[in-house]
Amino acid sequence: MRLQVVDHPLVAHKLTTLRDKRTDSATFRRLADELVTLLAYEATRDVRTEQADIETPVAPTTGVKLSHPRPLVVPILRAGLGMLDGMVRLLPTAEVGFLGMVRNEETLEASTYATRMPEDLSGRQVYVVDPMLATGGTLVAAIQELIKRGADDVTAVVLLAAPEGVEIMERELAGTPVTVVTAAVDERLNEHGYIVPGLGDAGDRMYGSA
Ligand code: URA
Repeated sequence: MRLQVVDHPLVAHKLTTLRDKRTDSATFRRLADELVTLLAYEATRDVRTEQADIETPVAPTTGVKLSHPRPLVVPILRAGLGMLDGMVRLLPTAEVGFLGMVRNEETLEASTYATRMPEDLSGRQVYVVDPMLATGGTLVAAIQELIKRGADDVTAVVLLAAPEGVEIMERELAGTPVTVVTAAVDERLNEHGYIVPGLGDAGDRMYGSA
């Protein structure tokens, strides 16, 4: 597994406002969307392209287009939904799959309650999105499912990560073609499995249920 922390002043600026507890839901959603777009720019650095011959108004030329098979973007419901638009804005040809996963707040274990994506992901580049890499249980389970279906290149885009989650990912996904792209790796997890300092419950802050 490869970890990439995106070091950019705009990323740091948006993340600081996301962390601020005074930021309301509408602003939180807009900033999360903007931050995802910046992270997606880095996360797609190795997206596959193919040669494209076109004509400009002046002359023929050769460029590139996103290649087939199309990349797949998989938001993990619920909070990953708030990151979908930012991803597909940069990957307009992407197909979208869904994984519904929920974390048991006592055991902190992840279980899947809904899956909607192609059975066969052989040869596909997959971008899985979830705002918080906390204990790592949800992302590890999601990525194992993608690899079981044949995905040969998986990038997880998360707004924030905890060192504990990164460590679990490194251990459970050692030797797999997985990259994690994040805006920051925070200090630690608290006893409730929240990232410290973090930004609170990303789903609640996005959807106004806090
Ligand atoms: N999920 C969240 O939304 N926030 C955390 O801090 C940890 C998990």
